[in-house]
Amino acid sequence: QKFKPCDLVIYGALGDLSTRKLLISLYRLEKSELIEPETRIIGIDRHALEEGGFVKVARKSLQSYLNETIDDEVWQRYSARMQYLMIDLTQLDQYKQLNSVIDSKSRVLVNYLAVAPFLFKNICQGLDKAKILTRESRVVMEKPIGNDLKSNREINDAVAEVFNEDQVFRIDHYLGKETVLNLLALRFANSIFTTNWNHNTIDHIQITVGEEVGIEGRWEYFDKTGQLRDMLQNHLLQILTFITMEPPASLEAESIHSEKIKVLKALRPITADNVEEVTVRGQYTAGYMKGQAVPGYTEEEGANKESTTESFVAVRVDIDNWRWAGVPIYLRTGKRMQNKRTEIVVYFKRLPHNIFKDSYRELPPNKLIIHLQPKEGVEIEMLNKVPGIGGSITLQQNKLDLSFSETFKNSPFFGGYERLILEAMRGDPTLFLSRQEIEQAWAWVDSIQDAWARRKIAPKPYSAGSWGPVASVALLARDGRAWEE
Ligand code: BG6
Repeated sequence: QKFKPCDLVIYGALGDLSTRKLLISLYRLEKSELIEPETRIIGIDRHALEEGGFVKVARKSLQSYLNETIDDEVWQRYSARMQYLMIDLTQLDQYKQLNSVIDSKSRVLVNYLAVAPFLFKNICQGLDKAKILTRESRVVMEKPIGNDLKSNREINDAVAEVFNEDQVFRIDHYLGKETVLNLLALRFANSIFTTNWNHNTIDHIQITVGEEVGIEGRWEYFDKTGQLRDMLQNHLLQILTFITMEPPASLEAESIHSEKIKVLKALRPITADNVEEVTVRGQYTAGYMKGQAVPGYTEEEGANKESTTESFVAVRVDIDNWRWAGVPIYLRTGKRMQNKRTEIVVYFKRLPHNIFKDSYRELPPNKLIIHLQPKEGVEIEMLNKVPGIGGSITLQQNKLDLSFSETFKNSPFFGGYERLILEAMRGDPTLFLSRQEIEQAWAWVDSIQDAWARRKIAPKPYSAGSWGPVASVALLARDGRAWEE
């Protein structure tokens, strides 16, 4: 599908996000011939580079992070698109340099802010001052967009002075993941699930986002943020809204956004009165990851030994609406977990009557397991009769197993950033977050943060390489349930 070529400007072009993710993703899009031939990539950062320096940076980033050999022909095409400008983003006068490069007549200006959020306002003002924006221009913002509702609003307000809401593309890279998008297909294209997706048939849902990584040199950012704001406020709540929203009228951005907001509005508030029963904070201590000794959170490089920031969080979420009344959703996410595993497990209700009770006191429930990463696929756990004659019927739990890598082995798989950069260049806002949605998510997360502060809840220790503090097991055990292991 054709769309207008862009001038894609990356602010913070020499930074972590750009060199680890964006430049790789753009190369992969180039390889698949998904970038308009006339599109240009303009890197901006505050460091001086020699002639051709940005191209060298891009080459190095591909050599370090691309899991495939660089194709010469693709590289020629790709590197020919690149330009670099040195701009100190805090100096509004310097943005006028862009006028000599940007061509807003035949290209759409897409401003990708891969920088810390304190610069967002400056960049918007600088662009405004340089009189370079048109009604077609866009701005793509990376999380974290603030650290709470207040700071998020301040940033949104500053951006809104320069861009209309339909020009703003707020990224959550989980919405670019193939398996997260497949949730729409799974739920709204299969009658078996569509008709069974409510409190009549579902007992509870678990969402786990386990990470192996620790802090990886990001101490300063992470310690101010914590796992609740770094992961749950965005990625886990996005998965939650996709799995629990009402069927949207269509795939149009507006329909999807408004259904997601309704779910976020129905999240039962967490207060100082219930925070101890429904949340768990954890912080990792030294331990072993796959046999290798790793330091604890407060022993990481640059760490403040007294830090009480959480690297693990588990929450029991109740959605106060008709569909989900009485169906808790348990969320957990942590750094230095036993392995990288992102999955959703939907537990169906037990049957009201058991005709096999001579052999089985209780029949296990059916489960739908949706593997998001690193394994990608869908499994259904169900009971079957073991073949045999004479005596009682023997049952066995088996899996209907749909592995994506097997089933779709001939289809190309694209990463989250590839999809989202392409969508931003195409100008389709469906997979980006609306202002209202993100503010609603912050409001709910702020209530947890606030309740923790009021109750002075310190994180509970857990060993690196485990699945979090014992309190996380107790969170489900209190309801007679257990995490899927
Ligand atoms: C980022 C967080 O948004 O997501 C990181 O800031 C986290 O702390 C990362 O490690 C996880 O992303 P993924 O795609 O590896 O699950």
